[in-house]
Amino acid sequence: EGFLPFQHEPYFDYSNLEIAERQRAAFARIREQGPQNYPLIIGGERVFLEDSFEVRNPADPREVVGRFPKARGEHLEAAIRAAEEAYATWQHSDPLQRAAILMRAGQIFRARRMELNAYMSLENGKNWVEADGEVAESVDHCEFFAREAVRWAAGKSVSPLSYEHVTMTYEPIGVVAVISPWNFPSAIPIGMAFGAIAAGNTVVLKPASESPISAYLFCEIMEQAGLPKGVLNLLTGEDSEMGDPLVDHPRVRMVAFTGSREIGCRIYERAAKVQPGQIWLKRVMAEMGGKDATVVCADADLEAAAQGIVAAAFGYSGQKCSACSRAIIEDSVYDQVLDRVVELSRKLVVGLPEDNADVGPVIHADSARRILEYIEEGKRTAKLVLGGERAEVRAADGTVLEGGFIQPTIFSEVDRSSKLFREEIFGPVLAVTRARDWKHALELANDSEYGLTGAFYSKDPEKIAYARRHFHVGNLYVNRKCTGAMSGTHSFGGYNMSGTGAKVGGPDYLFYFLQAKTTAQKY
Ligand code: SER
Repeated sequence: EGFLPFQHEPYFDYSNLEIAERQRAAFARIREQGPQNYPLIIGGERVFLEDSFEVRNPADPREVVGRFPKARGEHLEAAIRAAEEAYATWQHSDPLQRAAILMRAGQIFRARRMELNAYMSLENGKNWVEADGEVAESVDHCEFFAREAVRWAAGKSVSPLSYEHVTMTYEPIGVVAVISPWNFPSAIPIGMAFGAIAAGNTVVLKPASESPISAYLFCEIMEQAGLPKGVLNLLTGEDSEMGDPLVDHPRVRMVAFTGSREIGCRIYERAAKVQPGQIWLKRVMAEMGGKDATVVCADADLEAAAQGIVAAAFGYSGQKCSACSRAIIEDSVYDQVLDRVVELSRKLVVGLPEDNADVGPVIHADSARRILEYIEEGKRTAKLVLGGERAEVRAADGTVLEGGFIQPTIFSEVDRSSKLFREEIFGPVLAVTRARDWKHALELANDSEYGLTGAFYSKDPEKIAYARRHFHVGNLYVNRKCTGAMSGTHSFGGYNMSGTGAKVGGPDYLFYFLQAKTTAQKY
């Protein structure tokens, strides 16, 4: 198909002092500029509004890092109209043109990675490594979807007939509303929005209010890459104004959502209602939470398992749907693995994302309060073995920061009936549970309403073969950690209440944004 083979974007090596210095300089440049006023983007026009909200640095909420408009109903209408108008031509765009735009966008991302990493860190509290991983994933999405756009354009072969000519081809569906979360403010909305665009749809994007800067920047990048006006529209504002009305709108053909289970279920239900004037059943992609388990068998490489658990539990303070929030360990090695997990976790530095500390703040005060409630509950129902409190982090001037810094927290002897075992906490809290044997461990792992990621550590091929069949998750990782899926390789999405199973970054993903047309022609 004329493309170079797909290759994952390599990560920066921050142990290289010169690279680390470049990353620091990117933060300094953003600080020098000061917080910007950002606009909505509707049909390519920048719309600034008096009525705005502030984006604050989660590590130090005193710091405003940007201001965004509070859009109203009229802006929503205008954005949907712009997307519809653009769709009239974009749906017939050449897939090679779409691919070229996506690849050009990938190049711009590459050139601006340091800056994009720094913005992300300031708006959502990722450290350098986490932000860099995400921006690299954003480049991968561009490269991957470019190739997928062309691949799907070829259609699929069908059984031929002697008396007519039959093809099956794929066509886009229309205006896609994309509603995205704060924890991956670049890779997740890009997954949904660029997936939709690669397939020939147009998009109205509503990013989470905590982290719209990354979204604004990638809209700008797509524009620079040559995306026509109106194909990607950006709305920011209050969920009450921009949430339900966007989902309910009769001209929206599909809603692509990633976020909480509560909102995902709400969208799924609302989108099912056919509104006056609506002439289709809306499609919904809803990717929601996880309560992901790592199973450790007695025969496993226990050191690798402990390291995998710690990285997946506490990376980005556990604020990933893919995070390991349960470690389920076979009885005979339970104490040994637990001790090692605690030892490794104790070494994690809680501090400023901007200094690339291992564990940063949670997204905001409400989130910290909610997580601390789970921790209090855990103190009553399980055994606290590490953390369990807020962490004190100081600014350069010595003041104690108000960000939601929480110590990496580990509970052992967590019972399967407890909230710690069953509910998604979305914070740096790990529940460790003892299993009688490895099959019991797997049974416990599957005892969840979710089914997103899971890790299974063993060296025994028979146990692994069994886990491959019986571990009921969309992303199963054997002898490695359960976070860090890569676009183009680890198609990402889960079972049960984890969502609709769209598998972003995988070979089926674009299908969700397409409809199939059979054309039969008599000779
Ligand atoms: N894709 C991310 C991961 O695998 C989560 O959204 O960690």
